[in-house]
Amino acid sequence: MISPADTDHRFADPAVDTAPWWRQATVYQIYPRSFADADGDGLGDIRGIRSRVDYLAELGIDAVWLSPFYPSELADGGYDVADYRDVDPRLGTLADLDDLIAALHARGIKVVIDIVPNHTSDRHAWFREALAAGRGSAARERYLFREGSGPDGAEPPTDWTAAFGGSAWERVADGQWYLHSFAIEQPDLNWAHPEVRADFVHTLRFWSDRGVDGFRIDVAHMLTKDLSEPLPSAAELAAMPVDGTHPLLDRDDVHEVYAQWREVFDSYDPPRTAVAEAWVASDRVPKYASPESLGQSFNFDLLVADFDAAQFRDIVAHNIALAARSGSSSTWVLSNHDVFRHATRYGLIGLPATDEPGAVPRRHGGGWLEAGADQALLDRTAGERRARAASMFLLGLPGSAYLYQGEELGLHEVAEIAADERQDPTFERTNREQFGRDGCRVPLPWTAEGPSFGFGTNGAHLPQPAWFADHAADVEAHDPASTLSLYRRALALRHDLQAAEELTWVETHRADVLHFARPNGWQVVTNFGAEPYALPADAGRVVLSSAGDDGASTGVVPGETTVWLARD
Ligand code: GLC
Repeated sequence: MISPADTDHRFADPAVDTAPWWRQATVYQIYPRSFADADGDGLGDIRGIRSRVDYLAELGIDAVWLSPFYPSELADGGYDVADYRDVDPRLGTLADLDDLIAALHARGIKVVIDIVPNHTSDRHAWFREALAAGRGSAARERYLFREGSGPDGAEPPTDWTAAFGGSAWERVADGQWYLHSFAIEQPDLNWAHPEVRADFVHTLRFWSDRGVDGFRIDVAHMLTKDLSEPLPSAAELAAMPVDGTHPLLDRDDVHEVYAQWREVFDSYDPPRTAVAEAWVASDRVPKYASPESLGQSFNFDLLVADFDAAQFRDIVAHNIALAARSGSSSTWVLSNHDVFRHATRYGLIGLPATDEPGAVPRRHGGGWLEAGADQALLDRTAGERRARAASMFLLGLPGSAYLYQGEELGLHEVAEIAADERQDPTFERTNREQFGRDGCRVPLPWTAEGPSFGFGTNGAHLPQPAWFADHAADVEAHDPASTLSLYRRALALRHDLQAAEELTWVETHRADVLHFARPNGWQVVTNFGAEPYALPADAGRVVLSSAGDDGASTGVVPGETTVWLARD
């Protein structure tokens, strides 16, 4: 077993020494309102994160990505931003944030923050001004106001639906309607407006000047829109190709915005980085990931894949090739704040796939409970075992790995949230048919004992289930077989494994086993099947196993397990 001390020769390869930090970084996503609560109001805060910096350093991550911490009425978990250049007073102050950035930097951890440019909150000064100024005013030009259809304009301009359900248009007191692609409280900005463009440049500089290292760009494919009349119907929109010319999605002209941002990023030393959250067709991804645009773009393919060797292999091969087209590195994600935790997704295997008739929706956004499925369908142990195997597979890949808070504790999705405690707008906007994303946003368990499992001193803003005690960080930290211990060991070893961005597949003669080689003799073998897999005699020494039996290799990879191998 290699201990962290043995990995001091990290980045021994000169090419990797000089590579930008983000290319193979492990980035840990923090959802600030659910991470740690220092002031006891039930809501996580900046000083709470500050108090856990040692935990982050011990985990061995390279960067944190902070989901929005800005002033917000929380209509969409903070993605409704009322002021892009401040901290929500319930979460702290700008001084607290400066202090957090300094503490993370002192431990060699970079800081990436979320920028939400498609829409503001309806509490943003601009939107309030737009409402007060009335129709035809310059203030309304910053948003997408239109007259309604039908007699007296009492019907929305079109039949478009919002991402969280219901109409994408909302009527204001004087009778005009505004577009909101997401919640009613999230009016879409007009990206044809020069003031909108200038203001975001100001925001990017504001945070870059404060020492922020990079930005995650929320729904990066939706900013620019063509709302020229006549507006198409929803059916017409759905029939249009998304090839750069679609009125609402993935328009080529959005890259004019990012070219301007690139100038901002590159005016800093080191250049600031960005990663696009762009749900676009694969062949459109390189545009966002190119060095002239945002530089990196999320690949969400593993988020929607089964725990399946063929799917994983295709996704990896495809995305490495795709990243090469833009010169970027690939990004790997199994969980984030928008989807069911992967331990739960993988614990539901055996249920029909989402596209089969009568299927239980169980993946992106929605959920399996609302379809009437019984919680007993979830195999928790199998889900966790597969999640550990998939995570160790992911951490062995070239490129950057994005982890979501709590996955290192092996957390499952929380199902036990009463209707009146749910916060995600999806729930009410779908007439309570879809539960939405609260289950992956429940505040973390830090201790097995104490109020709110050590999250804070005074409860948590979403209810924590009793089984959180088994996953508390303090329990797992002392258990060598825990998921936390596994992640810590993997991240300590990962820097050595990442000497260059190379991957070579090794033949296994088993359709359910994947084996790839990395630089310096490192290899990763994942057995997706149930039957044990005998390693080739010359494979090397097992230094890590997702089944938790490091070093005790018998030359066999158990079912649903990943091992990392090193050559002496
Ligand atoms: C992104 C965020 C999601 C948010 C939406 C609207 O998809 O990840 O949480 O609800 O954008 O801002």
